[in-house]
Amino acid sequence: MSENNSERHDHEAGNETSSAGPERRQPTEAELAEMSRDEKVRLGLAQDDVELVEYPDPWPVKGTRAERRAERAVAAWFSLAGFSALAFIGVFVFWPWRYVNPLADERGHFLYSLYNPLIGFFLGLSILSVGIGAILYSKKFMPHEVAVQQRHDGHGSSELDRQTIAAELADAGNRSTIARRSMIKRTAGFGAGAFGLGTGVLVLGGMVKNPWAETGPDSLNHTGWMQSEGEKVYLRRNTGDPHEISLVRAQDLSPGGFETVFPFRESERGNEEALLHALRRSDNPVMLIRLRPGDNPVARQGQEDFNYGDYYAYSKICTHLGCPTSLYEAQTGRLLCPCHQSQFDVANSYAKPVFGPATRALPQLPITIDEEGYFVAKSDFIEPIGPAYWERNS
Ligand code: FES
Repeated sequence: MSENNSERHDHEAGNETSSAGPERRQPTEAELAEMSRDEKVRLGLAQDDVELVEYPDPWPVKGTRAERRAERAVAAWFSLAGFSALAFIGVFVFWPWRYVNPLADERGHFLYSLYNPLIGFFLGLSILSVGIGAILYSKKFMPHEVAVQQRHDGHGSSELDRQTIAAELADAGNRSTIARRSMIKRTAGFGAGAFGLGTGVLVLGGMVKNPWAETGPDSLNHTGWMQSEGEKVYLRRNTGDPHEISLVRAQDLSPGGFETVFPFRESERGNEEALLHALRRSDNPVMLIRLRPGDNPVARQGQEDFNYGDYYAYSKICTHLGCPTSLYEAQTGRLLCPCHQSQFDVANSYAKPVFGPATRALPQLPITIDEEGYFVAKSDFIEPIGPAYWERNS
């Protein structure tokens, strides 16, 4: 260590042998074996021209009350993390998670309704406690050293360094043959330029272009069920052939039955592009459901006449993350989303979510039948389809 110190003093006196600092004598193996850990730490730092100015022991007097208090605080947070995690596991496994109808069992429903908040609370508390414990440990027990690293201000690289580095760079460029590869140079310039431009457009475009300001049937403010010029919008099946139009009538579904339907206008007949668009547009799929006798749906305020008798039409796009809610379980009267198991109660409410991560009811399409008995939409949806959190203000 003493040799290193003397070298550092030489350096401070301006006796550098190169721009990177004084050349340091490497300790012999025997000297290395003799060194304490602290000396090795300082030697390693000195190799990078780093000097430890202060390296205080956080608790120079061992066993004080303050130290024990700090230790207990850290331990308390880690314990809380552990208990919270256990509580999370306990709730996750044992808490009643199946939906309980509040009309049938108020207490059961109350317990069920605590399921999601509790697992979220305990998991969150566990993560938070681990974090606080780790921060507290590093503040209280990790050494907070003050170190100085020499930057050799005022001493540029030596001529030798400059010339050898320049030669190395030039040699690497030369060996890569980039100098004579004009095509690569041009395409690289184009690629990098276009990428830079694209990044700029991405950043600035979002502030300039407002997709919600657009109007018309293909705008984001409407779905394919939008009415225009008094033309009927029928409910059709997807038969696999866009030109084979199969409309839906009331007698086609038996109680408890359901069907996925899409919009169809007579003016689109024969127009492959329009027909395919209607079948593929992501916010068009609708689940037409015929409830069973004894089902007890609840109409949403202002949507009392959206159903036609026992027939209810709901957007098939899950309000959680937009998967298709493709399974209707007639016995429970619930629509199930396969992605994260959200369940929407159709038979006892208005497709309100009763299980899983979805928080918003499925939008209902107002339907009726025309004079020939075919189902038609009375209007477009009156609320956003799918997750649509960016469209809603409530
Ligand atoms: S997308 Fe339906 S539950 Fe997540």
